[in-house]
Amino acid sequence: MPEFSRRMFLGAGTGVLAQAQAAAPSDRITVGMIAVGSRAQELLEAIKLVPGTEIVGVCDAYSGRIARAVERTEGRAKVYKSYKDILADPSIDAVTVATPDHWHKQMVIEALEAGKDVYCEKPLTYTVDDGIEIADAVKRTGKLVQVGSQGISGDNQQKVRDWVKGGKLGQVTMIRASYNRNSASGAWIYPIPPDASAKTVNWDAFLGSATPRDFALERLFRWRWYKEYSGGIATDLFVHLCTTIHFVMGATMPSEVMAMGDLYRWKESRNVPDTLNAVLRYPEGFTVNLSSTFNSRGDGGAGFQFLGTEGAVQLGAVGAEFTPENMRENNDWIVAGWPSNLEAAYYETPEGRAEKARAVRRSPEKFKGRPINATVLHFQKFFNSVRTREATVEDEWAGHHAAACAHLVNESSRSREVVKWNYGTHRQA
Ligand SMILES: NC(=O)c1ccc[n+]([C@@H]2O[C@H](COP(=O)([O-])OP(=O)(O)OC[C@H]3O[C@@H](n4cnc5c(N)ncnc54)[C@H](O)[C@@H]3O)[C@@H](O)[C@H]2O)c1
Repeated sequence: MPEFSRRMFLGAGTGVLAQAQAAAPSDRITVGMIAVGSRAQELLEAIKLVPGTEIVGVCDAYSGRIARAVERTEGRAKVYKSYKDILADPSIDAVTVATPDHWHKQMVIEALEAGKDVYCEKPLTYTVDDGIEIADAVKRTGKLVQVGSQGISGDNQQKVRDWVKGGKLGQVTMIRASYNRNSASGAWIYPIPPDASAKTVNWDAFLGSATPRDFALERLFRWRWYKEYSGGIATDLFVHLCTTIHFVMGATMPSEVMAMGDLYRWKESRNVPDTLNAVLRYPEGFTVNLSSTFNSRGDGGAGFQFLGTEGAVQLGAVGAEFTPENMRENNDWIVAGWPSNLEAAYYETPEGRAEKARAVRRSPEKFKGRPINATVLHFQKFFNSVRTREATVEDEWAGHHAAACAHLVNESSRSREVVKWNYGTHRQA
């Protein structure tokens, strides 16, 4: 059985939309891609499927990525030396930012200032404060930000949100969500391209404002190993989980977070945990358990459980399944310890009769969404917002809050203390 992958979980289905139709040049949204790494090559293919868009420029810190991206645009995309050159080109309407996380804030803010709408990969931020700065820049410039946790644009997550909103689950007080893996690739030990060297890689461009270091290919190609460029499991994976939970539950931020992270297995490589557990308490009246390990996928890999008084939902890659509670009170074993006459009398009371009556059973329900790549759907929404100027489906606040959850998880794990969200200084939308 194939590994239950991130792609499947996030709705990167195999089905695609029709090829983009030609649009008049004046109607076309021109896109510049800042970084064309692994994820951005997927973004590129998704953008190609959205009618009325054209990828006109690309840049990257490694020449091999650029070559592949240009090939994927049939040679049409122009190569820019740096992201600043893309931003300086007035013919570009929108940009994607898909660099390592430590670059996101700077590039997003500079892009907004340059008059571009921005699609930024998750996590939107590297620190909590980054989110406030980005939100201020959006306000100042009137430009749009959409964040790339594409799962929420998939049918199944929207269905679960409708179920929760419509009261089908009753009161939801507990949510479990996980992301488990058991492979080197799942633990971010990616192959490094054989032609990567100081000649093909722009080391300083990669480092940006990070602490200066000697050239080291694994830092550039396996940056998730290092807290200098990423927040590890929390910002890579929990951020997707929190985006979905906030979307489904209509929630903003947990008031308190506690977490424990450990590095048990892949010790030779990283300075971030390979196993992370977190508890998040939400003022909306529910608690979330997030967990991830790179040392077993025994529970099937990834998914969510929304647990409600009237039913539970299992949400995964291939749809959502509702299981009704069908609860029935049962005090048999309690009244069996009473005097016999009182036990018999109990079953003559309304409560006792109800316990003996046959329970009304509701059936489980399965929902199977359309097999359409969620990234394509997410981009359709983004470009629609670019045209209409309506709010994006995952705006800077949604991105800030989901990433902030990850940062609080890391802060708690490092400090071994419960971390509180400061609604005053961290501001809410
Ligand atoms: N939404 C999703 O499902 C999903 C999946 C994977 C990755 N991501 C996100 O996408 C982003 C990129 O991840 P990835 O897996 O593609 O990593 P990657 O290492 O494959 O790609 C990052 C690219 O950024 C380039 N780069 C670094 N600094 C640069 C600079 N200053 N200018 C131009 N290019 C620069 C690197 O050369 C590299 O090609 C991350 O934020 C990650 O969290 C999202």
